[in-house]
Amino acid sequence: MRVTVSVLKADVGGFVGHSNMHPRLVEIARESLDAAKIDGKIIDYYVAYCGDDLNLIVTHTKGEDSPEIHKLAWDVFLRCTEAAKKLKLYGAGQDLLSDAFSGNLKGMGPGYAEMELEERKSEPIIIFMADKTSPGAWNLPLYKIFADPFNTPGLVIDPSMHDGFVFEVMDVVDNKVALLSTPEESYDLLVLIGASSRYMVRSVYRKSDGAIAAKASVQRLNFMAGRYVGKDDPVLVVRCQSGFPAVGEVLEAFAFPHLVEGWMRGSHNGPLMPVAFEDATPARFDGPPRVIAAGFQLSDGQLIGPVDLFRDRSFDYTRVKALEITDYMRRHGPFEPHRLHLEEMEYTTLPDVLKKLGSRFKDAED
Ligand code: 13P
Ligand code: 13P
Ligand code: MG
Ligand code: MG
Repeated sequence: MRVTVSVLKADVGGFVGHSNMHPRLVEIARESLDAAKIDGKIIDYYVAYCGDDLNLIVTHTKGEDSPEIHKLAWDVFLRCTEAAKKLKLYGAGQDLLSDAFSGNLKGMGPGYAEMELEERKSEPIIIFMADKTSPGAWNLPLYKIFADPFNTPGLVIDPSMHDGFVFEVMDVVDNKVALLSTPEESYDLLVLIGASSRYMVRSVYRKSDGAIAAKASVQRLNFMAGRYVGKDDPVLVVRCQSGFPAVGEVLEAFAFPHLVEGWMRGSHNGPLMPVAFEDATPARFDGPPRVIAAGFQLSDGQLIGPVDLFRDRSFDYTRVKALEITDYMRRHGPFEPHRLHLEEMEYTTLPDVLKKLGSRFKDAED
């Protein structure tokens, strides 16, 4: 059976500030998606949230970029925004850049990752959802999962994965994509995706048969709006087992809390901390950045789950390490590399300061 898994997300208002989700918004999303399920528009749904980001997980048979599914999500986000405005939640409708829906969520503000797949005899998938970061945050774990044998022994010992995987990389500045094949083009791939604010992995395919293995949301709100309107907190869908990395190989890539951009005012680097659903509540310095992992078994498109995979104690050390790194990074105060490079910052006073100081800058002598 061919099924499409669509994960559509938006920040429709934070509670309190940018820290958490108001239960009323979750209720509204559930009511709307329940009605769509009863109408037969979708097969199943699950409403998740990470920090102040609302994630609609929807299964259906309408394929990727379906105007009907995107409109459904858009209407849910609008309804939630209305409620958020009444409650005066923070940044209500923050990610909705337009008033009029034009057939597709592309360029509209919300982020999405969609995967049409032929459902296998058993189809375990993991949906990762993050807050206070950007889609470039997936580059390092995706490389580890699909190209690093020290993370994924299946690349070495499982004949069905031994040929490797193909990465689709997007240049979000020039709006171009390229396919790179691993292991043979690993070094070329790394020189690109190591620059994770510009080059982002959008999809991963199994080389032997071209089967889809992972899809990420790569919308960049700040570029789309021509000015900064909020960090594009990302989502990622990964297929697991039987010719794909095992669930544990996929999760293993998150045992290292790597530095990602998007913390405090969208202008700081911090460690990506894997947490249980109930702990996806960034607080200290609006962070540190969080990621949750929802595991599902698909069964004729039904979402059997979720299992809250990072709730497990095997991630306790990672969390402690992330908190140590939080402390270390915070002590840099307004200095790089805690603060982002100038071009990547949401907020800057630099032009005003330079204007004010203008005449005081003299030519430097040799
Ligand atoms: P089982 O033997 O429990 O199916 O596990 C296989 C596997 O790959 C675990 O990593
Ligand atoms: P969000 O992108 O999650 O809304 O966070 C914005 C911010 O600047 C938090 O400090
Ligand atoms: Mg917000
Ligand atoms: Mg957010």
